[in-house]
Amino acid sequence: MPLVPAVEIEVPDAERREVLAEVDRLLRAGRFSQGVNVEAFEEEFAAFTRTPSAVAVASGTTALELIFRALGVQGREVVVPAGTNFATYIAAERAGATVRLTDVDPATMAPTLEQVRAACTPRTAAVAVVHTGGLIGPDTEAIATWCEQRGVALVEDCAHAHGSERAGRHAGTFGVAGAFSFFATKVMTTGEGGMVVTGDDQLAQEIKLLRNLGKPEAWVSTHTRPGWNARLPELAAVLGRAQLRRLPQVLAARRAVADGYADALRGLPVGDFLLPDHPYSGYKAMLMLPPDTDRDALKDRLREHSVQAAGEVYATPLHHQPVLADRHAGLRLPGTERACAGQLCLPIYPGLDEKRQTHVVSALCDSLTELAEVSAR
Ligand SMILES: Cc1ncc(COP(=O)(O)O)c(C=O)c1O
Repeated sequence: MPLVPAVEIEVPDAERREVLAEVDRLLRAGRFSQGVNVEAFEEEFAAFTRTPSAVAVASGTTALELIFRALGVQGREVVVPAGTNFATYIAAERAGATVRLTDVDPATMAPTLEQVRAACTPRTAAVAVVHTGGLIGPDTEAIATWCEQRGVALVEDCAHAHGSERAGRHAGTFGVAGAFSFFATKVMTTGEGGMVVTGDDQLAQEIKLLRNLGKPEAWVSTHTRPGWNARLPELAAVLGRAQLRRLPQVLAARRAVADGYADALRGLPVGDFLLPDHPYSGYKAMLMLPPDTDRDALKDRLREHSVQAAGEVYATPLHHQPVLADRHAGLRLPGTERACAGQLCLPIYPGLDEKRQTHVVSALCDSLTELAEVSAR
């Protein structure tokens, strides 16, 4: 069996032709920034997520930073789960906030309401939740209500959650705003790019100002805010629109792979496969391995069986990252530590057919058996 890679990015011929035709039109029209494609992409993404406003920006990290800046978190605290991408943390910090880390439940990869409450103080301006791997935590609505009652802004990091929904609501619509990423590995991509969704028109207007050097009028050099250039290029928006059109098919295919893993792994002594009970992006297929499994050794074995497992979300919690370790020295977050140490991400993408999936599952079982035999010797 040839190697089953961890990630496979494919653009089908029909989409490639569609994008090339649109790029040709763009090149002929000659408007490469803040034109019809960005505007249409925003409208289409707002419709897809069923949110009143969407604002296209340069990246997911920028989307988060713009939200935090527009909320005015400067000089106050933002609560961030410790098992997330560094982007969530640095976005809040660049907006002038001090970050407090919260633990998560490793069974859902999300914080519980209790964990959020424990991390909040009277100085908390915002709480960030991250829909890790596309899973929306079961306490998200309760956290949203609790935050609203206390005047704390709930911000959703939806970098993994295009198409994820819970109780009929799309990711990004539980709090005041959601930040999506269109980075190259996401379930839809513009290469680099991001989108803010919000039901708060004032917040959307403020973010539009900030993304365009603080100019109320795009092409007039009058600056009313300390904004910077956080715009998404027209070329990227062309790709984003085509990717969004195909997204329902991609989501269905990813979900079928996730369901296939759940069925095949049921009852096997390989740990717990995290299959959500809600529609999800299928960005990650996360398996919580049995305690004390040597993940690196397991990944080496899988590789010998032609399976690449990579891209944990996330292998190192933020408080153990070299750049942050001093500030959070002594912090103990057992749920996050278990989630980060025990999680294995299985290959998942639309082109992963049944044969390759069956191979991944048998490679996993064989590798775990081999490891057990080695440690029994
Ligand atoms: C959870 C999370 N938040 C934010 C980001 C940042 O997005 P971007 O790479 O588009 O800046 C990422 C990663 O790409 C992510 O995984």
